[in-house]
Amino acid sequence: MTLRQPLRGSFQVPGDKSISHRAAIVAAIAGGDSVIRNFSAAGDCAATLRVLAALGAEIVKGLDEVRVRGRGGRGLQRPAVALDCGRSGTTMRLMAGVLAAAPFGSTLTGDGQLLRRPMDRVAEPLRLMGAGVDLRDGRWPPVAVHGGPLAGIEYRLPVASAQVKSAILLAGAQASGETAVVEAIPTRDHTERLLARAGAPVERRYAGGVATTAVRAQRLGAFDISIPGDLSSAAPLLAAAAMIPGSDLTVEDVGLNPTRTGFLTALRRMGASIEASWAPPPGASADVPAVQAEEPRGSVRIRHAPLRAIAIGADETPALIDELPLIGLVATQAEGVTEVRGATELRVKESDRIAGLVAGLRALGADVEEQEDGFAVQGPTRLRSGVADGLADHRLAMTFAVAGVVASGPVSVEGLGFVGDSFPQFHRVLEGLR
Ligand code: S3P
Repeated sequence: MTLRQPLRGSFQVPGDKSISHRAAIVAAIAGGDSVIRNFSAAGDCAATLRVLAALGAEIVKGLDEVRVRGRGGRGLQRPAVALDCGRSGTTMRLMAGVLAAAPFGSTLTGDGQLLRRPMDRVAEPLRLMGAGVDLRDGRWPPVAVHGGPLAGIEYRLPVASAQVKSAILLAGAQASGETAVVEAIPTRDHTERLLARAGAPVERRYAGGVATTAVRAQRLGAFDISIPGDLSSAAPLLAAAAMIPGSDLTVEDVGLNPTRTGFLTALRRMGASIEASWAPPPGASADVPAVQAEEPRGSVRIRHAPLRAIAIGADETPALIDELPLIGLVATQAEGVTEVRGATELRVKESDRIAGLVAGLRALGADVEEQEDGFAVQGPTRLRSGVADGLADHRLAMTFAVAGVVASGPVSVEGLGFVGDSFPQFHRVLEGLR
């Protein structure tokens, strides 16, 4: 592969992983036949489909669409065996919320990597709603859920996690009374939009610097949706274009939900030229707006320009949580010290992404410092040939693969195959642009 060759032209990425999980789940607890077009090819979303099928949802996979015959809220069937979520934390946490309302007990399990991720964050609110949830040593999977009638709660998220919010809202859509989730820092709102699309009354209120999302139970109806491309999958390619002089790259029809576009904002602050075809609406408003079902989508054009360091703090991290390793990489090519703080959540992803990023970038000659809640990168440095361990984590694997296109010699990435958890076509799309 020729190194540092400008990336030019346009490309598309498969459907958004977060939205695909939620579309399949909401369709399964709705009544009737839903069609989900441009469904993600991610291994993680295949895990969600397998779990839903084991619960009795009829699922037919076409070339790029998925048809789901829903069972209605209480119509899921008791599974014969433990439900295997693979390596997908989203599957496990969101399904815990769904199963909390089911009239039977079930167990969510997964592979060794997932069994090391904390689940007490979903167990606690679901117990407050009336479900029984048992964890290994009080914290870890397997998750044994004893479902039953639930009552709505108001819950303030102790960690900024869209997965926890989603588990509560999915349970709340099947509970008596109102369920409200209070967030100091807004996280991705795809579950809210999908529930609204299926007919649930979902509201967002802003007051005193916090956002409250509230839902009530409602018979959910089938829907037809086309999923926008996954901005998190486009991100490694956009990062490469930001770093390589002469690059001019456009990604078409990608999701531009403002809770997900923090990476574009950060790259722009670093100096990259970015034009997005969809303008985010002005931020929080004081009225009580019904949540919009439609996902913002459009194209993004990025052109290389000299990069400078930036600082990213806790209030920004949810909108680019999965892109923070890429920020670390791009920072190696930026003038000055880039600091990412308030990102402790990175330590409990598919791997400890702070330790993994620092070790991998150092192995390629970068000047990186590890902090408890983030990292600092001194740039610019010319990355060199070396071996970087992706720690069986798709986001780290893609980050180091992109490091390979800016390094002075070949970079070997351990665990490159794990990119399939979110973006199996990663290599093909990258090669197509060179
Ligand atoms: C996701 C939310 C984020 C993100 C993950 C997908 C989702 O996790 O890191 O890749 O689909 O809700 P947290 O909600 O735990 O931060």
